[in-house]
Amino acid sequence: MGYLVATTNMKGGVGKTTLTVNLAACLAKYHRKRVLVVDLDPQISATLSLMSPTDFAKIRKDKGTLKHLIQKAITGDLGYGDAKEVVRSYAGNMGGIDILPGDIDLYNDFLVSEVLYKKAVRNPERNFESVWNSFEDSLMHNILNPLKNTYDFIFLDCAPSYNLVTRSSLVCSDFYLIPSKAEPLSYIGMQLLERQVKKLVETHQIDPKKQAQLIGIVFTMSRSILAGRYYKQVMKRVRQEFNDSQVFKTSVPMDVSVSRAVDSFKPVVLSDPDTTGSKAFRAVAQEFLQKLQSLTPTAQSVRLSKLE
Ligand SMILES: Nc1ncnc2c1ncn2[C@@H]1O[C@H](COP(=O)(O)OP(=O)(O)OP(=O)(O)O)[C@@H](O)[C@H]1O
Ligand SMILES: [Mg+2]
Repeated sequence: MGYLVATTNMKGGVGKTTLTVNLAACLAKYHRKRVLVVDLDPQISATLSLMSPTDFAKIRKDKGTLKHLIQKAITGDLGYGDAKEVVRSYAGNMGGIDILPGDIDLYNDFLVSEVLYKKAVRNPERNFESVWNSFEDSLMHNILNPLKNTYDFIFLDCAPSYNLVTRSSLVCSDFYLIPSKAEPLSYIGMQLLERQVKKLVETHQIDPKKQAQLIGIVFTMSRSILAGRYYKQVMKRVRQEFNDSQVFKTSVPMDVSVSRAVDSFKPVVLSDPDTTGSKAFRAVAQEFLQKLQSLTPTAQSVRLSKLE
């Protein structure tokens, strides 16, 4: 069974998507893992980092996006094999990496509320909140569980908002990864996220053994020399607040080749592997596997080291 890893931070624009697609590509290319990237953000940045807008438009027209799986889950029509039908191979001349395309219009809040409200009315012993929570518990689990055997890692690129899909993803994930800029607002986004995760565990009565574990914080878009001192102070604060081992030693530098890579619908580690950004992502991938090994029970660690 593969691991579900949510990439998340309540703050927008901190490098969640960039880290997700580059980490996924590194694990596929350099560690021969089978990896799936799931785009949970209506901005569809992960999707458009791995395929052209023209290809996306065709897929969307053929109802090949996450939206249709969520729609089926809402109406109770989701079949076990449905997610496999929607997954696409990455077209960029490299195996091992697949994408479950997102959509600019993932679900309709009103429809979800209406369906769940009717369900609550039909079950007098259950109130609306409990029906909603159990839907949230099962939504992403039911969509992704049939795919877990096919992949070593399934990365969930979350939106910067704490919506139904983000919560459902955190409930079903084994791990979560927090990218952050070394600046106060991203740091606050991290603290807010930690608070929400704690609340989620309580409201959804998640078994502590099964709750998503923080795999680590990755500092992104770090700048050198001029602003270095200030960023270092912020990083120090984060290391004090979190366990030092939860912060990745590698931080990803600001590097124009990283954002330019999106023009070629490729993660920079594939389009421009010798840049400083690509080297940093490779080091992050290595650390990611090491951290995972230290967090997982022995049997699973052996499985991981064999795969490396
Ligand atoms: N190391 C980097 N160097 C230069 N540019 C970067 C780097 N990392 C990310 N970027 C750019 O910064 C912008 C934000 O990154 P990204 O989309 O990954 O953030 P995000 O957290 O996923 O945003 P959102 O919250 O909107 O989903 C993008 O334009 C991306 O290309
Ligand atoms: Mg994003």
